[in-house]
Amino acid sequence: MNKPIIIAIDGYSSTGKSTVAKAIAQRLNYIYVDTGAMYRAVTLFCVRNGLIDSSGKISDRLKSMLKDINIEFRKSAGSETADTYLNNENVEKEIRSIETANHVSAVSAVPEVRELLVRQQQLMGQAKGIVMDGRDIGTVVFPDAELKVFMTASPEIRTLRRFSELKAKGENVTVDEVRKNIEGRDFKDTHREVSPLKQAADAVVLDNSNMTPKEQLEWLYEKVKAICEHD
Ligand code: DC
Repeated sequence: MNKPIIIAIDGYSSTGKSTVAKAIAQRLNYIYVDTGAMYRAVTLFCVRNGLIDSSGKISDRLKSMLKDINIEFRKSAGSETADTYLNNENVEKEIRSIETANHVSAVSAVPEVRELLVRQQQLMGQAKGIVMDGRDIGTVVFPDAELKVFMTASPEIRTLRRFSELKAKGENVTVDEVRKNIEGRDFKDTHREVSPLKQAADAVVLDNSNMTPKEQLEWLYEKVKAICEHD
């Protein structure tokens, strides 16, 4: 496994992409990039700057303000994972809130937002040795990635997983709110005009409805091994 590769992981909301992506990155000593966090950070910027009206429409002013947005990932001392920073502020908790989740699909459908973030993501992957998860990684960001995974799981399981996650973080949500958010995002993410979520023709499907995180990691590790041994 000497030659570093790019691992692109796409899929529906709350399929556990980041859990498996982080685990494989750690096993291979690769960089992990959560592109959803980047779209969520831009969304938080919009909420804070009054760029989203009561009907959920994004103001055109966002385009001229994109230059004021700086997103970084920084590791906190003693932690294995990196936190998301928006203009030097740790926004890791806020970007995971249901309010941000309710607006993120609309913000991520803005072509100028996608252009900016895709460019940054491509730069992060220049040296390979990277695991990136999102919705368009295997189709748009890295169409030549050596390994593309498309993740899915039943909507019921995804709802319960995300519900427990939000509850554990102290968010005051109901199962119904979470289900609606997931269904809404699936629809918007797969139907938007620019880079909709779709399975790349050469992606392998991972349906993890009935798999533990450990089983998923082993499944993915075998795929990486097969590619690296083949080279
Ligand atoms: O992975 P996530 O649930 O944190 O992503 C949040 C939203 O960001 C998702 O509903 C759609 C958008 N997104 C995107 O459009 N493209 C990506 N590469 C990653 C996320």
